[in-house]
Amino acid sequence: MSDVPPIPRVELAYAPTPILKLERLSERIGVELWVKRDDLTGLLESGNKVRKLEFLVGEALAQGADTLITCGTLQSNCCRTVAAVSARLGLTAVLALRGAPPAVYDGNLLLDKLLGAELRYCTDEEWTKIDDVLGDLEARVRARGGHPYVIPESGATVVGALGYMACAREIFQQTKRGAPDFDTVVITAFSGGSQAGLLMGKQLTGLRAEIVSVAVAWEAADVRQYVGDIVEQAARRYHLSVTPPPEVRVIDGYQGAGRTRIGDDTLGAVIDLARREGIVLDPVYTAKAFQGLLDQLRQDPRQFGRRICFIHTGGIFSLFPFRAELSRLLDGASLVQ
Ligand SMILES: Cc1ncc(COP(=O)(O)O)c(C=O)c1O
Repeated sequence: MSDVPPIPRVELAYAPTPILKLERLSERIGVELWVKRDDLTGLLESGNKVRKLEFLVGEALAQGADTLITCGTLQSNCCRTVAAVSARLGLTAVLALRGAPPAVYDGNLLLDKLLGAELRYCTDEEWTKIDDVLGDLEARVRARGGHPYVIPESGATVVGALGYMACAREIFQQTKRGAPDFDTVVITAFSGGSQAGLLMGKQLTGLRAEIVSVAVAWEAADVRQYVGDIVEQAARRYHLSVTPPPEVRVIDGYQGAGRTRIGDDTLGAVIDLARREGIVLDPVYTAKAFQGLLDQLRQDPRQFGRRICFIHTGGIFSLFPFRAELSRLLDGASLVQ
């Protein structure tokens, strides 16, 4: 990608991440299903967020920042990754978390504390004005002599999206060195920033695969809008020869009941893949997306072509707060296929 201008970047991800075939599932469905293990990007198995942070932290350091401020749910993967990267690089992490402090720390929140992040819990009402909360934290960091850099929820900025532009390039190179020439690459979408990055990387490298996402929180229309905006911003800001694609393919209908209540069918998808292929999805993001993909394939096995690559974007630690629901399912209730 010779047309990518020098953009500040800190190498954090253990990449290239492996691409593995799901042998038994592929046989069952009748198409080749592969998984790119972006859950193994390192820094506490931080998944897609490490790729985004390579560019966000690159920009933060270029601006002289010593403190990273971000926000998310109590089990936010992005917040935990910011905490892990900060500890690794000797920066301070300040996290605004939606919810009350629990009696016992668990999952990502336990890791946030372990990694020394400073936490500010927010009520639901405060969360509606999260920009004010972040502004207040920024002012407090400055008042104590620090240099803050604010990362919006999920690292959802044009800078963060560059991480998945680089991932598309990585996939392109892997296909040149023996990985299959995929017809479709499927990724989980919260904001759609990662999908936007992949779409940009596809345009810049000539990666053949269609880039499809499964919306797991926002409505598909909002994801599409965001993807288009990010590609436009990237073209303007970095002078990249990318244009918003005329059609952004987003699979809708798998958002479930939000990020804190997960249905038995989604937990069933986690259990099923773990037992069939030895790969553990997270219930909040990747399990919903994978479930959506399998569901679509059941309806029309060839709609994504013959070779499909699902990017596992991580999130494993949010599995543990669902221990009660999982235990009930694992102890005998019938599992949803
Ligand atoms: C595990 C996991 N996968 C995927 C995503 C989606 O990222 P994006 O906001 O780039 O769509 C997230 C973001 O929160 C995530 O935590």
